[in-house]
Amino acid sequence: MTEFSDDWLALREAADARARSRELVARLATALHGPLRCVDLGAGTGANVRYLAARLAGPQHWELRDHDADLLACARGACSALHAADGRAVTVTTAVTDLFDWAGTGWRDAQLVTASALLDLMGEQWIRSLVGEVAAADAAALLALSYDGRIGWEPGDAADDALRTAFNAHQRARWVNDEPALGPDAGAAAASAFRDAGFRVHAATSDWCIGGDQPRLLQALIAGWVEAAAEQQPDDAGAFRAWGERRSAQVERCALRVRVGHTDCLALPRREG
Ligand SMILES: C[S@@+](CC[C@H](N)C(=O)[O-])C[C@H]1O[C@@H](n2cnc3c(N)ncnc32)[C@H](O)[C@@H]1O
Repeated sequence: MTEFSDDWLALREAADARARSRELVARLATALHGPLRCVDLGAGTGANVRYLAARLAGPQHWELRDHDADLLACARGACSALHAADGRAVTVTTAVTDLFDWAGTGWRDAQLVTASALLDLMGEQWIRSLVGEVAAADAAALLALSYDGRIGWEPGDAADDALRTAFNAHQRARWVNDEPALGPDAGAAAASAFRDAGFRVHAATSDWCIGGDQPRLLQALIAGWVEAAAEQQPDDAGAFRAWGERRSAQVERCALRVRVGHTDCLALPRREG
């Protein structure tokens, strides 16, 4: 299964780490105590645990779940020598898992359920189920890097709005496990569902700011946006491809900067800060 390649996940890891909300992670670190059991959903090659483990104190055991066994194999290699903020041991195991299968999630003794760059792939019912499972475990949840529909390019181009509108429609048109993906609406839906369930919710923007120092990431993004927009609106495919060529040429001249809107959401059980 290669829905997301390890190359793509490696390409975005630095931009993700720069973008993530330090404030929410600090709140999480203050709220969690003792030896931690953490579950990372849609873990891919393990970028989320690589980011979080060193920012949380105390011994930690992380279980990385994904339906892609190849990505999890990369994660095992890349997460074998992690340490907590206080130098304590961090152990990591992986489990090939279909996140749509809620039977026996097995995280009732987890203190943290987390995911990064996952939520926008999921639908409303999945998010409601996630909230129910996190509440049943009395755990905290940190859902990082949900795309929120904003993309800003500098300099601007006359076709920017049309491209972004078609791309966002494509994000919402995907059908996952018998429901539409929430795409750019997922972060807000999760915050609202956790609030409804009585959690204390903290949200923050975690925008990618990408410039001439990351030309490969920029080129990959441009190609992905054009492909999705053209698939969504085939009649406008020519205009979207022309937009992509103009943007790609700007990347080659180090003349393009992009801000891609993301949000992070931290949900803490009521008893915690
Ligand atoms: C955009 S990647 C993010 C990976 C990683 N969390 C990161 O931040 O680099 C989304 C991940 O979710 C996984 N995924 C998507 N749908 C899934 C499902 N139904 N069950 C299990 N894993 C899933 C994919 O295999 C992929 O590794």
